[in-house]
Order: sequence, then C-alpha cells, then structure tokens
Amino acid sequence: MKIIAYGIRDDERPYLDQWSKDQGIDVKAVGDLLDDTTVDLAKGYDGAVVYQQKPYTASVLDKLAANGITNLSLRNVGVDNVDTDAVKRNGFKVTNVPAYSPAAIAEFTVTELMRLLRRTPTFDRKQAAGDLTWAPDIADELNSMTVGIVATGRIGRAAMKIYQGFGAKVIAYDVYHNPELEKAGIYVDSLDELYAKADVISLHTPATKDNNKMLDDAAFAKMKDGVWILNPARGALIDTDALIRALDSGKVAGAALDVYEDEVGIFNTDFGSFEAIPDERLKNLMKRDNVLVSPHIAFYTKTAVKNMVQFALNNNKQLIETGHADNQVNF
Ligand code: COI
Repeated sequence: MKIIAYGIRDDERPYLDQWSKDQGIDVKAVGDLLDDTTVDLAKGYDGAVVYQQKPYTASVLDKLAANGITNLSLRNVGVDNVDTDAVKRNGFKVTNVPAYSPAAIAEFTVTELMRLLRRTPTFDRKQAAGDLTWAPDIADELNSMTVGIVATGRIGRAAMKIYQGFGAKVIAYDVYHNPELEKAGIYVDSLDELYAKADVISLHTPATKDNNKMLDDAAFAKMKDGVWILNPARGALIDTDALIRALDSGKVAGAALDVYEDEVGIFNTDFGSFEAIPDERLKNLMKRDNVLVSPHIAFYTKTAVKNMVQFALNNNKQLIETGHADNQVNF
C-alpha cells in the first residue's frame, strides 16, 4: 500500500513518520498543497491524504481520479471546500477527521472572549506605550452573562462546558437536539430567540449553502445592544461588511474572529508588515482593540495536529483496505 500526503508542514512530519514506522506503510510526504500543478505526483499511489483551506476544485479532483486515486482523506473536519459534484462524478470516497480535538477550538474561543471582556488588548497596547492607567477600560464579567451557542456538535458542547465553568448561563440553538442538553433545557426554539437573549454569540456550525452570511444586518438588528460575537467556525457565516457596520454603531461590543470570509491566501502567510496585508477590510478589523483576529489557529495544538495526521492516515488505510471507512463523509 502506498499513500501520498500533501501539504505536510514541519510540525506534522514527526507524527507522519511515527505512523509510517508503526504501520510499516510507505507514506510519501509532499510539502505543497494538492492543486493542478501537484496532482500528477499522486500517480501510482493508492490514496491521498490532504489538508488545505482553499477549494478542492473539480479540475483537481477530476485529474486525481484520472490518475487512479479516489481514496481521499482530509486531515481536518470541515468539508465545505470540496466540490461535491466532482466527488460524486468520479466516485471518490472521502473521509474527514470529525474530532481531532474539540477542546482545542473550545478553549481558544473562550480565551479570546475573556481577552475581550477583560480589555487585555487595550491594556497591552497602553502598557507597551508606558501607560499603566485603568480608566476608561473597565471590564465585563462572563459569570453574569448569557452565552448563545449556535450548533451543539462536539465543539459547541466542549465550549458550553467551559462557559458553564465560568458560571455563565448557556442557551443553544440547533436543528438536531442532543438528548442530554434537551433534558437540561438548554435549547431555544429559534435563532431569533437566541439573538434576542444572548449577551455572547458563539458560532460552532459548519458552513452550508443555507447559512451563508447568517450574521447579516437583519440578524445583528435582532441582537441585544452590546453583544459579543465569536467565530471560530467558518468565515462564510458572517457578512463582514454588516459586522463592521454593527461594530461602528456599537450594536456589537466586540468580536473574536479566528476565520474570515476572504482568508484563503491570507491566513498562514507572512506579509512582512501590517501595511503589506492585502485586505483593507481585514485590516480595518485588525486595527480595533475590540476585535481579535487570529489566522485560523484555534485548532492548532500539538494534540490536534497529531490526531489530524494519524487519524487521517488511519482513515486512508481503511479506505484502501476495505473500500469504506468509519469517518467517510456522506455528500
Ligand atoms: C477544520 O478542521 O475544518 C478547521 O477549520 C481547521 C483548519 C485548519 C482547516
């Protein structure tokens, strides 16, 4: 059995080598992402393990299939960047890693919220300039707030526990009701109800065609004045222009954004200076003390990266050996 793994970073390499040694399976590690220029490297392999935030286009998937590879294992959870028509047309079997570390994302999300509530970005900036004063940057307390969780999958539930540990009241909206949370009376009946009641809105839903820009002008208008917005999920969930308007008006008190609708080609790139970042809207957000932008790093822990690599390789091996895998995605 021969597997090719694309887009392998230095921090992933030890986990890949360990798996390869433990399993006695040859894994070719390629630093470049899977695209039209690298797809031919996969010729002769039985499966491909991939990770990327940019789209898996029809053109790339058609070429991969023409090279005889239809076992495709993503090292991440989201599948919104996969061309589903090309998957179906070519008979791809695709796996993801649904739970590499829900805690990693949940912990980061709450950390960012605490930084916002305690105004640490402002104090850090003032202190760096020698200003050790307090006012006017008085903080808010999470324990007296209501947090609205959008989607109670693994990450939403992990975040919920941490918010509850801080003493916050938690409510949630999801079309699917987790039986335990249902019993605990966590769910509200509609997003509108969640918007009306929550002091903090914590997004943990995958991006679908139905929730594109779900936080738009109309949604912000339904929220409490001074609401805090957290998005560690997908950039497509927020209409960035509407968010900027809501920040300008004070409707939104602040936001922590680990994802951004135009992040492809920008996040995980070193531009050398703030000025050189080629996105004015993003820079508008980054300049504000009450907005925390991070380059899609909520997932980026040692535990998560190890699991992403090793679970994806296990999935690919299972696909190659049996023609199906436990973590196969049903498009
Ligand atoms: C995911 O697993 O879907 C993530 O958002 C992590 C990422 C680096 C793509």
